[in-house]
Amino acid sequence: MPLMRSLFDAPSRWTALDPVAARAKDVADRVLPGGRVRGLLHGRPAGHAVHPAMAMVPVGTSVSAFVLDAAAVLLPGGQALGAPARLLAAASVATVAPTAIAGWADYVDLHPDQQRTAIVHAAGNAVAATLWTASLFAGRRARLLRTAGTLAAGAAGALGGHLAYRWAAGMNHAEHLVHLAGDGQEFSDIGTLDDLAEGRPEQRWIGDAPLCVLRRGGSVMALTDTCTHLGAPLHDGEVKGTGSATTITCPWHASEFRFADGEVLDGPASAPQPVVETRVEAGRVLARVVGPPL
Ligand code: FES
Repeated sequence: MPLMRSLFDAPSRWTALDPVAARAKDVADRVLPGGRVRGLLHGRPAGHAVHPAMAMVPVGTSVSAFVLDAAAVLLPGGQALGAPARLLAAASVATVAPTAIAGWADYVDLHPDQQRTAIVHAAGNAVAATLWTASLFAGRRARLLRTAGTLAAGAAGALGGHLAYRWAAGMNHAEHLVHLAGDGQEFSDIGTLDDLAEGRPEQRWIGDAPLCVLRRGGSVMALTDTCTHLGAPLHDGEVKGTGSATTITCPWHASEFRFADGEVLDGPASAPQPVVETRVEAGRVLARVVGPPL
């Protein structure tokens, strides 16, 4: 296995972190707000996690400070760059907390291996924030502290990228279903109406794309079956409401999706669920995946 991948993968197996991970989850559940505010922290209005975008600010300002510090050393008369570098470090410190809170909200509903990686990522960023803060009160060592903080943030940021792209934390886990189901080009026969239980969601398929299908009397509604949050089978979830307000709550972390348009109403999912159009003809159920709501 490539060395770099081994290094980045290693924290996911450090079970010694589990008590810390569990404590961090418990505290987040108690202190972080729920409802709409929690939805904002997850990035629901944007349809994707907001924490990585927020991290651009402390990382960007600290890298800018690093460039100024390097210029101060290398360029004649560069001492004047110390003040703007300090200002940028202050901006890094000021934006760490909101960025961390958004990441913490996402952390709560991750799998244990993802949480272990997230704990190490957060610890690296805590070290960075501590060094940046100390640099604001330091004299001759301010530049050294800022640089050390930026290096720590760089390593922690790289691990955060690994968590997102390798371990799929914060990704949309249902986007591919639209393509597996033929990009909504045509309706597919997914079985008879009589074979569907009344009021209980069941799994059906269009090609390799799973659907969560719900019969109510003579009509049928459906969503794609793989939860956008972390991929749970939605047909194992709980149905609530009636008519166009009918929803299904994911069995893993309780994200709630509306059948009519796939919108996320609650829970950690930020991406809406790809929608399925259905109709019943001569006792058979026809369906096509028409994609996420736009
Ligand atoms: S998998 Fe987490 S809410 Fe569905």
